Amino acid sequence: MLFLSSKEVLLIFLIIYLHGVMKKINKNAANGRVLNVTEEQKNVLNGSFMESAGQVSTLEYLDLSDNQMRGALPDLALFPSLRELHLGSNQFQGRIPQGIGQLSQLRILDVSSNRLEGLPESMGKLSNLESFDASYNVLKGTITESHLSNLSSLVDLDLSFNSLALKTSFDWLPPFQLQVISLPSCNLGPSFPKWLQNQHNYTVLDISLASISDTLPSWFSGFPPNLKILNLSNNQISGRVSDLIENTYGYSVIDLSSNNFSGPLPLVPTNVQIFYLHKNQFFGSISSICQSRTSPTSLDLSHNQFSGELPDCWMNMTSLAVLNLAYNNFSGEIPHSLGYLTNLKALYIRQNSFTGMLPSFSQCQGLQILDLGGNKLTGSIPGWIGTDLLNLRILSLRFNRLHGSIPSIICQLQFLQILDLSANGLSGKIPHCFNNFTLLYQDNNSGEPMEFIVQGFYGKFPRRYLYIGDLLVQWKNQESEYKNPLLYLKTIDLSSNELVGGVPEEIVEMRGLKSLNLSRNDLNGTVVEGIGQMKMLESLDMS
Ligand SMILES: *[C@@H]1O[C@H](CO)[C@@H](O)[C@H](O)[C@H]1NC(C)=O
Ligand SMILES: *[C@@H]1O[C@H](CO)[C@@H](O)[C@H](O)[C@H]1NC(C)=O
Ligand SMILES: *[C@@H]1O[C@H](CO)[C@@H](O)[C@H](O)[C@H]1NC(C)=O
Ligand SMILES: *[C@@H]1O[C@H](CO)[C@@H](O)[C@H](O)[C@H]1NC(C)=O
Ligand SMILES: *[C@@H]1O[C@H](CO)[C@@H](O)[C@H](O)[C@H]1NC(C)=O
Ligand SMILES: *[C@@H]1O[C@H](CO)[C@@H](O)[C@H](O)[C@H]1NC(C)=O
Ligand SMILES: *[C@@H]1O[C@H](CO)[C@@H](O)[C@H](O)[C@H]1NC(C)=O
Ligand SMILES: *[C@@H]1O[C@H](CO)[C@@H](O)[C@H](O)[C@H]1NC(C)=O
Ligand SMILES: *[C@@H]1O[C@H](CO)[C@@H](O)[C@H](O)[C@H]1NC(C)=O
Ligand SMILES: *[C@@H]1O[C@H](CO)[C@@H](O)[C@H](O)[C@H]1NC(C)=O
Ligand SMILES: *[C@@H]1O[C@H](CO)[C@@H](O)[C@H](O)[C@H]1NC(C)=O
Ligand SMILES: *[C@@H]1O[C@H](CO)[C@@H](O)[C@H](O)[C@H]1NC(C)=O
Repeated sequence: MLFLSSKEVLLIFLIIYLHGVMKKINKNAANGRVLNVTEEQKNVLNGSFMESAGQVSTLEYLDLSDNQMRGALPDLALFPSLRELHLGSNQFQGRIPQGIGQLSQLRILDVSSNRLEGLPESMGKLSNLESFDASYNVLKGTITESHLSNLSSLVDLDLSFNSLALKTSFDWLPPFQLQVISLPSCNLGPSFPKWLQNQHNYTVLDISLASISDTLPSWFSGFPPNLKILNLSNNQISGRVSDLIENTYGYSVIDLSSNNFSGPLPLVPTNVQIFYLHKNQFFGSISSICQSRTSPTSLDLSHNQFSGELPDCWMNMTSLAVLNLAYNNFSGEIPHSLGYLTNLKALYIRQNSFTGMLPSFSQCQGLQILDLGGNKLTGSIPGWIGTDLLNLRILSLRFNRLHGSIPSIICQLQFLQILDLSANGLSGKIPHCFNNFTLLYQDNNSGEPMEFIVQGFYGKFPRRYLYIGDLLVQWKNQESEYKNPLLYLKTIDLSSNELVGGVPEEIVEMRGLKSLNLSRNDLNGTVVEGIGQMKMLESLDMS
């Protein structure tokens, strides 16, 4: 039912006529004045719709999201009865007009994903506003108490990814109790925002990339029972976190990465799915991990100063899909129980001091990334890599102490895109079957990004998380970390070993290969003919 006066109906159809492409107005709102022009109907309205709208004083609900509308927003005071205004995912520009302050009934304002530049202070009058989403615009300037101090109904605040600063006086008491506090890349620092002390009911707290360089205040603990997402990453926050999250449970996502946190590994909170502590100053043993009552899906402890042997208690971390322990100071053998993680998709332990032989990972048949480079591993390359890890896309064993020959069984790895066995003691001949690596053979296939989807929650909505790991690769005479290497790289690096014999002719059939390094071995014979077929080759080292 759509209750509109004939003037409004005429007007709306006039607008539709002007912009031509709308197929259907959603008429199913229970009551009130409704104009719904959303994505599901796949409209591509463009132009400046609202300028021609005139005054529609009774309109309560307006949804123009997911179109291609551009230009400035009109004077919103023309719609004084609006309760919901959805303008997300268009190309609106300029400032949100002052007139917004007159929409005294407004409860939901969504202007996300536009090109808006400024917020007026009159926002501060919207005492009925419950949800404000201005994420992904180009908003500039400083938000002060006057923007916020009358927003007593506000529940969801999302200002993500703008260029805003939020500055309030030291002892400001917000009039609201937020459930979603989403302020990534909003400048809140340098001190830890004290007004958070007064918030007791949030499910999402994202203050990542917020220029905070401070120690964790002692009041920042005892989180709301509903907290699902805590993201403090990419700041300079220091202090110990062991007590911070020890007694909490029910989280989905905790990301404390890229800060200056220190101290021992905190207990893995019960029910956490994503637990990121990478790029901090944590130290000591991680044997407390055995006390975890549940298993995360994704655990990243890389780039810290953890040390000692890994505990051998991984068998019941059954959900673990991504485990990243790279760039620490772990030593001893890789525990056998890691091989019982049947859901494991990526294991990164590079740049530690692991010794001994590889345990069997033959039960981890979903493994796509096995990155063991930069350790002191011994023994030969085990056959189960070729027989059981048929989904492997990256195998990096570089810079270890492996010996023996390269088993031809690894040629069964159809999806292999990066094979790095450099700087070991491998001997014997290069197998004659490298043309069996399907992805390297094809030159029409650019590879897919390395992504693992981890279920999580964002406020009330389920959300998928991607894990994009990086890899240390040497090519074009440079050793670098590549983020998402499967997008760019197809490489074979067998350099700095003791390989003998000729270069197999099949090598030139790998038309998709971008980098081949066979240097620093004892290879002989003639340079393979037909190397010109390798159209994608960007780096070749036979020295
Ligand atoms: C507007 O349309 C969208 C997509 O069809 C729908 O999800 C939403 O509930 C509608 N809103 C109203 C108030 O009808
Ligand atoms: C709107 O879309 C139509 C058809 O796609 C196009 O011809 C017109 O140039 C567009 N107008 C603007 C302002 O982008
Ligand atoms: C907030 O409300 C008070 C009282 O209603 C009013 O005096 C003040 O001007 C309002 N502030 C803003 C920024 O609108
Ligand atoms: C706290 O948040 C929950 C939703 O997570 C909501 O149902 C409840 O009303 C809120 N309580 C207060 C006191 O704001
Ligand atoms: C935490 O925030 C950073 C920066 O905004 C973002 O890149 C990262 O993906 C977030 N972490 C999670 C687990 O969503
Ligand atoms: C990091 O924390 C340590 C103490 O753990 C402190 O000495 C150092 O100054 C902090 N660095 C920065 C950049 O905050
Ligand atoms: C893992 O096993 C240990 C004992 O073997 C047990 O104490 C612990 O609760 C188990 N954890 C999970 C997540 O099942
Ligand atoms: C790494 O651990 C070894 C002992 O296993 C110790 O001698 C060394 O100092 C540690 N290195 C760092 C950088 O902590
Ligand atoms: C090539 O791969 C197929 C399966 O993908 C396998 O059956 C065959 O044995 C492999 N050939 C060699 C020489 O490894
Ligand atoms: C690439 O080419 C091969 C044949 O050489 C073909 O079987 C395969 O489907 C092609 N892949 C794509 C993504 O086009
Ligand atoms: C090939 O590998 C060696 C180390 O094993 C390295 O020094 C050289 O730079 C690499 N070649 C290229 C082109 O990157
Ligand atoms: C290459 O070296 C092997 C021994 O490693 C030798 O048997 C063979 O004759 C050599 N081939 C050439 C062409 O020099």
